[in-house]
Amino acid sequence: MADINVEDTLSALTLKEKIGLISGIDFWHTSAVERLGVPSVRVSDGPNGIRGTKFCNGVPAACFPCGTGMAATFNKDLLYKAGALMADEAKAKSASCILGPTTNIQRGPLGGRGFESFSEDPFLAGMVSVAVVNGMQENDVASAIKHYVCNDLEHERSASDTIVTERALREIYLEPFRLAVKYANPASFMTAYNKVNGEHVSQSKKFLDDILRKEWGWDGLVMSDWFGAYTIKDSIKNGLDLEMPGPSFLRTAASVSHMISSREINIQDLDDRVRNVLKFVKWCARAKVAENGPEEQNNTAETRATLNQVATESIVLLKNENGLLPLKRDETIAVIGPNAKYAAYCGGGSASLPTYYATTPFDSISEKLGKEPAYAVGCYGHKSLPGISTSPLSRNPVTGEPGINVKFYNQAPDLDTRTQFDEFQYQNSPLLLFDYKHPRIVDGLYYADITTEITPDETCEYDFSLTVCGTAQLFVDGELLIDNKTHQTSGNSFFGAGTIEVIQSKALKAGQTYKVSVQFGCAKTATIKNDSVLTFGGAISVGFCKVIDVKKEIQKAADLASQVDKVVLAIGLNLEWESEGFDRPDMSLPPHTDELVAAVLEANPNTVIVNQSGTSVEMPWLQDAKALVHAWYGGSESGNAIANVLFGDENPSGKLSLSWPLRNVDNPAYLNFKTVKGRVLYGEDIYVGYRYYEKLQRQVAFPFGYGKSYT
Ligand code: BGC
Repeated sequence: MADINVEDTLSALTLKEKIGLISGIDFWHTSAVERLGVPSVRVSDGPNGIRGTKFCNGVPAACFPCGTGMAATFNKDLLYKAGALMADEAKAKSASCILGPTTNIQRGPLGGRGFESFSEDPFLAGMVSVAVVNGMQENDVASAIKHYVCNDLEHERSASDTIVTERALREIYLEPFRLAVKYANPASFMTAYNKVNGEHVSQSKKFLDDILRKEWGWDGLVMSDWFGAYTIKDSIKNGLDLEMPGPSFLRTAASVSHMISSREINIQDLDDRVRNVLKFVKWCARAKVAENGPEEQNNTAETRATLNQVATESIVLLKNENGLLPLKRDETIAVIGPNAKYAAYCGGGSASLPTYYATTPFDSISEKLGKEPAYAVGCYGHKSLPGISTSPLSRNPVTGEPGINVKFYNQAPDLDTRTQFDEFQYQNSPLLLFDYKHPRIVDGLYYADITTEITPDETCEYDFSLTVCGTAQLFVDGELLIDNKTHQTSGNSFFGAGTIEVIQSKALKAGQTYKVSVQFGCAKTATIKNDSVLTFGGAISVGFCKVIDVKKEIQKAADLASQVDKVVLAIGLNLEWESEGFDRPDMSLPPHTDELVAAVLEANPNTVIVNQSGTSVEMPWLQDAKALVHAWYGGSESGNAIANVLFGDENPSGKLSLSWPLRNVDNPAYLNFKTVKGRVLYGEDIYVGYRYYEKLQRQVAFPFGYGKSYT
């Protein structure tokens, strides 16, 4: 990318070009001015991997542990190395700015994005941010540190007004950002969706100009969170340089030039915004990536080794009575639980990404043992049904492999003369089409047909489901089974833009092949009204799963447990329970997990429980558990890292980056973890996390900083 002279370029720009530069052109690119050699810069999520330019069917990437897991390593050098690898990953995707890290405070256990944040402690959150940002930027990729500031809950996040004292603001919430500015100087800041003390941060003089620029002396680029700019005049005047994504419906050429000509907006203020964009573009030239360049993979042995080290060092050994761990290879071991054969590698929302590969506890333990151990699921851990495209019983009629075939059309299925304009094969779920682009789409309207075949291995009932941002109908052998088109109910799926999950079961015969097809209409065809701005694109999840009798499965698991020396019981949450877009309603594990744990512990007290979650969960059986390992969402290497620790190939060294309360009601944010009439009161003031438990001498399950080792 060509270097530019900022002041010369600024003085040569027309008003229209200046206005064009202060918002993006699409989800992931800034605007170019070709005649003056100003390139378009690609930005990419962040924070635990570099997804590239597509939510759906994109090029896979390395997935790092979630934020709370990274911080649990307490290893600055390693986190620097992780940041450096993120920079390499960004370059492979031709991106010169990473939308991360998430420097917000993990204020309470229920925050939907708690897993993305580093810690409840401002110093830890700040210094981990420093290490990661330095790793990225010293390897020539810009960081957009986010979400400045107090974006610590998801409930009504764009409208929520954080009411917080100046002291708590300074000591807790601003502090990690201040540390990052002081010791790592991030090239850009992403503003929060919410208001703080009555004003949206993305247009606040206090936060953008007085504190960030004047007090902290920072001079980088401020960008909005996606659809997180709310005004034209105040945001330009007070320092929001770049509105994302584009094309902007606020900063249009007509509206901004009208305000300039009427002196509602001062041209100097516009020039300041443009100057910061140009300085950012100049900074980004360091990455030396091609403009609109290709997206490639960087799946090398070095990549895997670094991911493995970070994931392994993040794991926290919470209990280990009677030296139950490490496991010995000559013991008989059963692996049980909903997360045993499921790769819980990242949390949900914009932090999620398709990874080069994912490892499950079961596969990685099998590898260490040199054979597959006995296994039972016990109960399911999913919130909505797993994607049909991920089921081994599915067969994409085009590839013959598991997965689905997706064909895109301009017209609805009932039209004989439909024109197909795109097609791809997919093995992931869901299909997030918010950033999907195709030159043949007219007025944002399109349809897709999704097809697969199912050959059950057991004769029994199976559940099918449809969750959609748009409309969808599911047919089995041509017969309508689910209608999520004519009657739709709003849910909190897809960043709050989708429906509830509609489930129908059907008896299927083993060995018989059933044709499953789904007719999908993009967001424009939806009949539900919701408050989300994500009304373009669309999204769909087609679920499929065998119906189980939980009581019987738990009994089977307990029977198996009683026959072996030791059990590894893999439980926890996943990207459906902890996600951007909503907060958890409680701190519970998924339904039936506690019953499963109790039954297995009773059948075999030599059970090692491996929990995966981004933040704390209630464990009513904790007293009875002799060994407990907490493994976060460990990224691509999750399973391998768990096996490293279980077998003592690595000595566990992670320490909790958050306090682990016994019960949700014990946590300091409990009374105020919801937006009420537009406000969320940070009533615990500075007593966040351990500051509160310590002051009030409240018992916790495990304190901040806790973690055992084998030595
Ligand atoms: C998130 C940001 C993210 C952006 C782009 C927003 O919904 O809040 O963290 O970087 O989307 O995906």
